[in-house]
Amino acid sequence: MLIQKKIVKRISLVVLLFAVGAHKEVLSVKRKADHKILNTILERWSPRTMSGESLSQDELMSLFEAARWAPSSYNNQPWRYIYAEKDSPEWQKFFNFLVSQNQEWCKKAAALIVVISKDTFDFNGKPSRTHSFDAGASWENLAIQGNAVGLVVHAMQGFDYDRVKKELNIPDGYSVEAMIAVGKPGKGGNLEALQEMEEITQRKPLSETVFKGTFISKS
Ligand SMILES: Cc1cc2nc3c(=O)[nH]c(=O)nc-3n(C[C@H](O)[C@H](O)[C@H](O)COP(=O)(O)O)c2cc1C
Repeated sequence: MLIQKKIVKRISLVVLLFAVGAHKEVLSVKRKADHKILNTILERWSPRTMSGESLSQDELMSLFEAARWAPSSYNNQPWRYIYAEKDSPEWQKFFNFLVSQNQEWCKKAAALIVVISKDTFDFNGKPSRTHSFDAGASWENLAIQGNAVGLVVHAMQGFDYDRVKKELNIPDGYSVEAMIAVGKPGKGGNLEALQEMEEITQRKPLSETVFKGTFISKS
């Protein structure tokens, strides 16, 4: 029994590595940075194909740990994460927040996470102008960490913000920012199938988003 379990674990690992390798190969063909950047940044993306397997507590907590180390104005750390794991009593409530297009692929997620941010500073109670910006930095840490260890991490705005606020007892003074689906990559690792199923996105050129000296509105 123990040997069988070990063999299953070993096969899962090989399949996982293959799937991750396939993802990376597709990304390196489809994405080219115009200037040299870290591969961990270029290779972060938002797949939707997940296997339905659960994550270990270590895997899940590593994501939040990465999020924890983001910079923020006055080191206020305004981000808060509320999560539900698949097969937990809270899962259905979180799943029901999502629009049906997101439910379609999130049914195979291991966890759904709601990101909120506190809109005042802890030290003086005054409004923070950057609470959403800070929460965005934190989410990106989470995403980069997850991608780097071969997990699917996918942010979403396609859900009912009012319902989240009400049903998760979020008081005034906190903003609901986004939801995140996390999970193990879907198996099957076939390059063509992956390319068809998933969208490898590109980016606007720097000339449209970076300005020397003054802003010029281009869109
Ligand atoms: C805040 C935020 C909200 C998003 N909302 C959704 C969503 O509701 N559904 C979805 O399928 N993808 C969603 N996405 C994923 C984006 O479409 C994706 O990040 C973008 O196309 C860039 O692709 P990449 O993440 O693979 O680089 C969201 C991403 C972010 C950051």
